[in-house]
Amino acid sequence: MAHSRLELPPRLVDWSILITVGFAVATGMLTLVSGQPGDAVVFVLHGMGGLALVVLLFWKLRRVRPRVTNRAAWNRGTLVSILLTTLALAALATGLVWTSGGTFVVGPWLLLFVHMALGVLVIPVLVVHLRGRVRLPTTNDFAGRRTALSSLAVVGFGALVWRFQREANRVFGLASDQRFTGSTEEGTDAGNAFPVTSWVADDPDPIDPDDWQLRVGGAVERERTLSTEDLDPDSEGRTTLDCTSGWYSTHDWRGLRVGDLLDTVEPAPDAQWVSFRSVTGYRWSLPIEEARDALLATRIDGERLSHGHGFPLRLVAPGRRGFQWVKWIDKIEVSRQRDTSEWLAIFVSGFDETSTGGQ
Ligand code: HEM
Repeated sequence: MAHSRLELPPRLVDWSILITVGFAVATGMLTLVSGQPGDAVVFVLHGMGGLALVVLLFWKLRRVRPRVTNRAAWNRGTLVSILLTTLALAALATGLVWTSGGTFVVGPWLLLFVHMALGVLVIPVLVVHLRGRVRLPTTNDFAGRRTALSSLAVVGFGALVWRFQREANRVFGLASDQRFTGSTEEGTDAGNAFPVTSWVADDPDPIDPDDWQLRVGGAVERERTLSTEDLDPDSEGRTTLDCTSGWYSTHDWRGLRVGDLLDTVEPAPDAQWVSFRSVTGYRWSLPIEEARDALLATRIDGERLSHGHGFPLRLVAPGRRGFQWVKWIDKIEVSRQRDTSEWLAIFVSGFDETSTGGQ
């Protein structure tokens, strides 16, 4: 079919949607582990990619509209297609509303979290939608200047709208309390009075300080076990906890510098990782050099850390997202290799009797 206007051939529209959705979901997932200012590019690319989808969906929906509006033409796949379109548009709209300062909640969730859930849901529905529909583009589809120009228009649209939206935010004072991660401010400097969030089953009983011990072991010269009396919280730092559910909170944390604790156990010369483990089985690890500068917090803004925020010890890891700030720590393990099973542990901790972990 010859195209008289700026538009990609149908098969290229379909493949571009697939690639763009894949890109949006992949960069979206990457945002969850991005918290350093240098990671801002991930959020920018995600936004631009998501917005580029608007043009592609416009072309696609214009093409398939007759098939959807004519009920007689419906088949088994039509409902899946409608569901997919609804999810993709809802993901786009919620992303855009959030980054324009729309901070309302949907049930217990901030809008950003709803956006993430919609974005992830697109994938399984897309897979069902693709069954029996995949058609490879032909060389003809790529021929001609119009295809190249149309592709440029898609990318350019995403970049321009992103830029325009940020400018509009600045002019109208919208989303002014959002960090580059999209998170909004909650309870800064208010001690323990900021949101308590934990993964589904992370809900240990309050810890009795008299029964609690911290074991430091693994690839070290001499293992150590500390009680609450051995903790000497002589370091402090002002750090922002940025939760992937869409809020951030900045506090003055006080506790032990991990590096000082490690010096007392003498890590093996080839040790690379430090894993922080919760009474619940939840755990996360940091490269040893980064871990040295992290804090094992006992106090926040002059208050004793509350149970919900991880008493007696919580990891404060600057530049890491909230789920990596392990709570209720009772074990620190130095190792030569990264504990990759932590990816599973953060989801299943708390579901059995010996483990119940947190964020
Ligand atoms: C079909 C899938 C998705 C689409 C189409 C999409 C689209 C968008 C759009 C249009 C924005 C607003 C961009 C802006 O105006 O700057 C946005 C923001 C955002 N999205 Fe997505 N998204 C998808 C999936 C996801 C997923 C799976 C996650 C995370 C798990 C995610 C995380 C975010 C975050 C954190 C922001 C805020 C970024 C910022 O403040 O710059 N998205 N998304």
